[in-house]
Order: sequence, then structure tokens, then C-alpha cells
Amino acid sequence: MTNQTSLTKALAQQMAGAIVAAGGWIGFDRFMSQALYAPGLGYYAHGSAKFGALPYQVQDGVRVAGSDFVTAPELSPLYGWTLAQQVAQALQVTGTAEVWEFGAGSGALALQVLQALQAQGVALARYTIVDISSSLRARQQATLMDFADQVRWVDALPDAFSGVVLGNEVLDAMPVKLLARVGGVWHERGVALARSGQTVDDATPAFAWQDRPTDLRPPLAVPGELDYLTEIHPQGEAFVRTLGDKLQAGAAFLIDYGFPEAEYYHPQRHMGTLMCHQAHRVDDDPLAAVGQKDITAHVNFTGVALAGNDAGLGVLGYCNQATFLLNCGLARQMELADLKTRVMAQKLIMEHEMGEFFKVIGFYQGEPWQALGFEHGDKTHTL
Ligand SMILES: C[S@@+](CC[C@H](N)C(=O)[O-])C[C@H]1O[C@@H](n2cnc3c(N)ncnc32)[C@H](O)[C@@H]1O
Repeated sequence: MTNQTSLTKALAQQMAGAIVAAGGWIGFDRFMSQALYAPGLGYYAHGSAKFGALPYQVQDGVRVAGSDFVTAPELSPLYGWTLAQQVAQALQVTGTAEVWEFGAGSGALALQVLQALQAQGVALARYTIVDISSSLRARQQATLMDFADQVRWVDALPDAFSGVVLGNEVLDAMPVKLLARVGGVWHERGVALARSGQTVDDATPAFAWQDRPTDLRPPLAVPGELDYLTEIHPQGEAFVRTLGDKLQAGAAFLIDYGFPEAEYYHPQRHMGTLMCHQAHRVDDDPLAAVGQKDITAHVNFTGVALAGNDAGLGVLGYCNQATFLLNCGLARQMELADLKTRVMAQKLIMEHEMGEFFKVIGFYQGEPWQALGFEHGDKTHTL
């Protein structure tokens, strides 16, 4: 049995135990939370490569498993260099001296931002990485060796903090609840054991969808009676509220794929947005190969904005990634770069790559100010 298969079996048995203990059914948010974050076993809690450009890597001349998906900082160092222009302005305007990055992955974004701020002579007292999965810490420490005296890691936010917050593709990794309208009746879609009477035994347990009637509803009424599957994001929104409650001074920039709620809960999006990523392939079955693949859902940016407002944060701006990066000077950075770097950086802004699909939302604490990234093409009114 390979290491990966035995991890999956151990995780599936643990999840089956949770289902049995809960009376035969758990909500999908609980399933997703365990599949991604169960200590030592969940996708983000064990040592697989996860982030990178290729589905394989070569070790001692042999091809072995590589990454599952690529994120913007893995694609091009110009991403972090450009974002750093916004960070530098935010530090200066808000009179703060720290960066707080959530879910730092391989540490690539932290490295790019730290290098850019250093090159510009911006004084930074500290760069703090907050990640609920500590398994990536060793990888981040290796990436950030040159900045060891500036970077620190914490498992959770303190009660009060100040600085500029960054979160790249963090909200999409937070567990969601699934809502399914079936025959005109809303249900919460959860997970049960596939074989009745199955308990924790030698075989890897199998899981099946199971719906239960619910009073939960999407934040926006979905017209019609047709069957409809979607997600709601109580954990992601609670995360933003916590940020707002604890941020004393500073700003926050969250970057992810998603849309405003009118687009999210559009009648045509009747299959929802839940997706899995493994070896650079996408599938729609989170119940199989648990712990071996990433599970994500798009972000409802209206919900994110409202959660921030609830906790006293104002929206600095909202726009697509291409607009934000170009406002922050990406075109100039590209002019100075070699051809290969330019080609990769283009993917950050091309409409059919990351440019339109990804969005940036910025928050301020205290008084509003004009953020560089939202100077032109701000779409806050669409939220
Ligand atoms: C898709 S990865 C993105 C990694 C990196 N930011 C990048 O862009 O390459 C999501 C990361 O968010 C982390 N994460 C999820 N929920 C979190 C939370 N509540 N607080 C901090 N980190 C979280 C996960 O552990 C994971 O490292």
C-alpha cells in the first residue's frame, strides 16, 4: 500500500467514525473541514507538494508526484512584486509596520513581497504568517531563510493586531455548506456512509451524498422551482468578521476566484461551484480519494464585503485581478523583465487565464483612502 493510499484509508476511517458518531450524517462543511485539515491526514495537513507549475517533479532522474494546482505567486514572481506596491502604500497611509499573511502556501508570495519592500527601502517591523495547517511551515521556513529575522509564524490571530493583511486563495479553501433545491424543497446536502451498516473496518469506507430538509437558504432568492445546487459560506464570512473585530489599524487585501452574489446565485449556475484539484486536473467528486485532492468553492464577494462591514471594516475597492495588478504597475514591471518572465506574468492578467476569474477586495479600518489597486475600474457597486 502506498503512503498516499494508507493516508486516505486512515482519513476515511476517521471520517466514517465521525459520521457514525453523529447518527449517520454530517454536513458537507464538516466533511470538507476534515478532508482538508484533519491533523496529519487532511489534504493541507500532510506533506504532499500541492502548489507548483507541474503535476510531476524529477527526483534523482525519476519522475515522482508533483503539484496539484498553480497559484498566482507560483506562476510569476511579478505577482508579489506588484502586490507589494499596494502593501507599501497601505503601510504608509495607515501608519502601520507589519504584514499578516494568511495561508502562505509555499512561502512564495511572502518572499516576493519581502524582497520588493526591501528593494524599495520600505521599513517592515515584522511579517507574520498565520496558517491553520502547520505542515507547510518547514517549506515556508526554507523559502524565507533570508528573512528569518523578520518572519514569524502563529497558529491563530491575537485578540488585537495592526498591519496590512494578505490572503491569496485562502477564502476558497474554507469549508462551505451545500444547499440543494430538489423538487422545489430546500435541503442541506451532507454526507453519509455509502453502504448501510458499514462501520470502521479494514476496507476503505465509501461515502455518499444525502440530503436533509433545511431552513437554510442562499442569501439571494433563486427564482424558479428547478433543481438547484449551491453553496453558502458561513466559515469564510466568520473569518472576515474576526479579521474586522481584531484589526485595530491597517488594511486587508483578499484575492480569490468568485463573483458578486447576483452572479453567484444566478439561476443558470445550477450546479454550484464546488471543485476538486489533483495533479492539475479538475473533478467534481470530493467524496472520493479523500485527503489526496484539494476541495474548493468560489467566493461570494458580496457576502465577504457584508461580513467586513458587520465588523466595522469599510470596502476600499473591488475589481478583477488584471485591473488591480495593472493599477499597481504590473505593465512597467513586465517591460523590465525578460521574455520568459513576461510570458508567465501575462497569465496573471489575461481574461481567459487569471485576469477576470480572480478578484481582489480591499478593506480599510478607520478612515477611507484611495488605494492604488482600485484607482481605475473599481467595481464595488456590483457587490
Ligand atoms: C489554496 S491554498 C493557497 C496558498 C497560497 N496562499 C498560494 O496562493 O499559493 C490555501 C491555504 O489557506 C490555508 N487556510 C485555510 N483556512 C485558513 C484559515 N482560517 N486561517 C489561515 N489559513 C487558512 C490552508 O491551510 C492553505 O495553506
